Amino acid sequence: MLALRGRRVLLGITAGIAAYKGAELARLLVRAGAEVQVVMTPAAGEFIGRLTLQAITGREVRQSLFDVSHEAAMGHIELARWADLVLIAPATADVIAQLAAGTARDLLTTLCLASEAPLLLAPAMNQAMWRHPATRDNVARLMQRGVRFLGPADGEQACGDVGPGRMLEPAAIADRVGAHFGGGRLAGRRVLLTAGPTREALDPVRFLGNRSSGKMGYALADALLAQGADLVLVSGPVALPTPRGAKRIDVESALQMYDAVFAHVAEADIFVACAAVADYRPGDVMGEKIKKDGAERLSIECVRNPDILAEVAALERRPFCVGFAAETHDVEAHAERKRRAKGLDMIAANQVGASQGFEADDNALLVIWEGGREATGRQSKVRLATRLTELIAERFDAQTATQNP
Ligand code: PMT
Repeated sequence: MLALRGRRVLLGITAGIAAYKGAELARLLVRAGAEVQVVMTPAAGEFIGRLTLQAITGREVRQSLFDVSHEAAMGHIELARWADLVLIAPATADVIAQLAAGTARDLLTTLCLASEAPLLLAPAMNQAMWRHPATRDNVARLMQRGVRFLGPADGEQACGDVGPGRMLEPAAIADRVGAHFGGGRLAGRRVLLTAGPTREALDPVRFLGNRSSGKMGYALADALLAQGADLVLVSGPVALPTPRGAKRIDVESALQMYDAVFAHVAEADIFVACAAVADYRPGDVMGEKIKKDGAERLSIECVRNPDILAEVAALERRPFCVGFAAETHDVEAHAERKRRAKGLDMIAANQVGASQGFEADDNALLVIWEGGREATGRQSKVRLATRLTELIAERFDAQTATQNP
């Protein structure tokens, strides 16, 4: 990540359980060439030791607003002026509220008030706190002032709840910071992405659906945005927050997804089809709820849905096309067959079924393109999305270079 070389990142760490990930984040930023100055809130020390962060960054961790030895040399004003970027990760609900209110009760919030550097926040909190109207208001106020939010991610939380509020993985945050400085590998590229399931109506209250949660697609959305992509996200029904910076279009059925994709595909440089689209839909949608009427069997006649990905790939002026393949067996053979049959530039295959692929927080992908393949091994969907995005950027660049030598 060349963009981070020599950049001065002030890393604020606040008192949340995700504070321990601050060490990994600091390490990634330092490894990418950034100078990292950690400032912790007083209570953050309960979650991570100063010594660890000091060893990683090579700089004394700052914590106290009233530190006589430092106030003369590099106090809050000097820190505020020193930073090219202020990044707070994890950002608790409390620090978000303080920043929204403009209070300055400790070194971190004081220097945020004094700094003109861009401010990035990676929230981490319980899902109910993230959803609370007070937090929503605070986030909206900060966004209006130009503060950028990285995440939060959705999933299982330290408290046992499930939902939005988990801090993004350090690698994803470091990528976003790199993209902030460097524009990212996909800066200026227009990416169209489908994610989540589709629902095919049977009657006014029932539908045929599938188990896609949208986690893979939304993690990809985050990773693509982190690389600076201009993203249109066509999403089936999922319970996930809109990735910051994405233009999201909500749809239900495969036909609606088809229409939304074809309304935007002409402007897309890259199309990524991660959605689990129903291959068939009921031929007749009943106007009224289907009644049992004593019948022991119910037959539903279905008709084929259009294959969105295949039709996009068949366009005369087509974007770089990346498909997914969800397979229960013979994954590579089926995926390779799909890649060739649909004329794709790349396919990401995953084994699905028995709590694999769908709904889970982690996954394993076999990515195949003409003349190459990479098996990622099992990892979080966030990490997979980061790697897949890198591969997409690499192959896209290679293809563009061949077409415009
Ligand atoms: O959402 P999660 O719970 O995180 O789960 C992630 C996932 C398992 C859904 C994801 O990793 C995945 O595999 N997505 C593709 C699922 C799928 O529909 O695979 P498929 O092999 O049936 O389809 C092949 C490709 O054609 C896919 O890119 C699909 O988006 C596309 N397609 C399929 C049918 C259709 N009518 N139109 C399409 O565009």
